[in-house]
Amino acid sequence: MYVLGIETSCDETAAAVVDDHRKIHSHIVASQIKDHAIFGGVVPDIAARSHLEKITPLVQAVLNGAPVPAQRLSAVAVTAGPGLSGSLWIGLSFAKALALGWQRPLIQVNHLEGHALTARLTHDVAFPYLVLVASGGHCEMCLVRNVGSYLALGHSLDDAAGEVFDKVARILGFSYPGGKTLEAYAKNGDAQRFAFPRPLKGQPGCHFSFAGLKTAACTLFKRFPDMSDQVRADFCASFQQAIADTFLDRYRNAFEIVREAHPTAFVLSGGVAANQTIRKTIEDFAVSCDVPFIAPPIELCTDNGAMIAWAGLEQFHYGRHDSLGNAPNPQWDLSGF
Ligand code: KG4
Ligand code: ZN
Repeated sequence: MYVLGIETSCDETAAAVVDDHRKIHSHIVASQIKDHAIFGGVVPDIAARSHLEKITPLVQAVLNGAPVPAQRLSAVAVTAGPGLSGSLWIGLSFAKALALGWQRPLIQVNHLEGHALTARLTHDVAFPYLVLVASGGHCEMCLVRNVGSYLALGHSLDDAAGEVFDKVARILGFSYPGGKTLEAYAKNGDAQRFAFPRPLKGQPGCHFSFAGLKTAACTLFKRFPDMSDQVRADFCASFQQAIADTFLDRYRNAFEIVREAHPTAFVLSGGVAANQTIRKTIEDFAVSCDVPFIAPPIELCTDNGAMIAWAGLEQFHYGRHDSLGNAPNPQWDLSGF
C-alpha cells in the first residue's frame, strides 16, 4: 500500500510517498525560511504564494521518485488544519484535484495528528503513548490512544515554544528562525547564571505559558546594552534550561494523569525536539519512569510530507476517507477527534 502525503500548513511545501512497511520512498521538503527571514516570522500571504509556485514541480518530483505510478497509490493524504488558511487551501485544493483525477480516496489529516503519529512511522511503538509536539506554531501534550483517538492534555495558553525561542533569538540579534543558533550559543554558557521563570511550574495540569518568560528575557536583555559573548552564552543556556525545566514539569504531570493507561513511550516531536538539552531532559525523565523515550530523526520532527502520508495511511487502514467538498479548518484541534 502506497500513500502520497502533501503538507502546506505553514512555511514548508512538502510531499512524500510512504508505504505500509514504514518505508519512505520519496520525500521532499522545500523550506520558505529565506522568504520570511527579513520579516522575522512567517508572513501568511508570502507563504501562500510560495506554496502555489512550488507545489506542482515538488509533487511531480516526489512522484518521479516513487516506486509505483500514481495510479497505484492507495490514497492521497493532505493537511487540512490547523495552519494558515491560504496555505491550507493550496495543499487541499491540489490534493483534491489529484484524488479526483486519479479516482483515489482523499484523506484530510490533522497536522498535529501527523506529528503525533510520526513515532509509529519511525519506531515500532504501540498505543497508547504520550507525545509533546513543540514547534514554531504548536505546543501540545496529548495521549495518543489510537488512530483518530487523542486525549488532549494541554497546550500553550499564549506563544508556542518555538515561537518564544525565535522571539528571544531575535532580541539577541540572531536571524529567523533562531532556536538553533540560540542552542549553539548555549553550549558555551552557564545555565545557572540567570534565574529565568519557569511558567506554571508546580501547578496542576499540562498547559504551557511562555509570555512571562519572554518578558523576563526582554527585561534582562536591557540590563546588558553591550552584551559580551560570555553573557550571551549564559543568557542562552539559562533561557533554554527554563524551557527544558518547564517541559519536564508538564511531562511529569501528564504521566501522572495517564499513568493508569500505561503509556508505552514518551515521545517528543516538532522542531523544538531538535534541541539536545530538551531531548536529554525528557529522555532522563523517561529512563527514571522506565518508559522508552522516542524522538524521531530531526527531519521528521519538523514539518514534512512523510508524516502526513503516514497518518493518512494509518487512517486508510480503518477505511476512513473524506469528501472532496470539505474546506480546510485552520483552527482544527486534536480534541475535535
Ligand atoms: O516544526 P517546525 O520545523 O515548524 C513549525 O513551526 O511547524 O519548528 C520550527 C521551530 C522554530 O521555532 C525553531 O526555532 C525551532 O523549531 N527550533 C529549535 C531548534 N531547532 C529548531 N528550537 C530550539 N532548539 C533547536 N535546536
Ligand atoms: Zn508542525
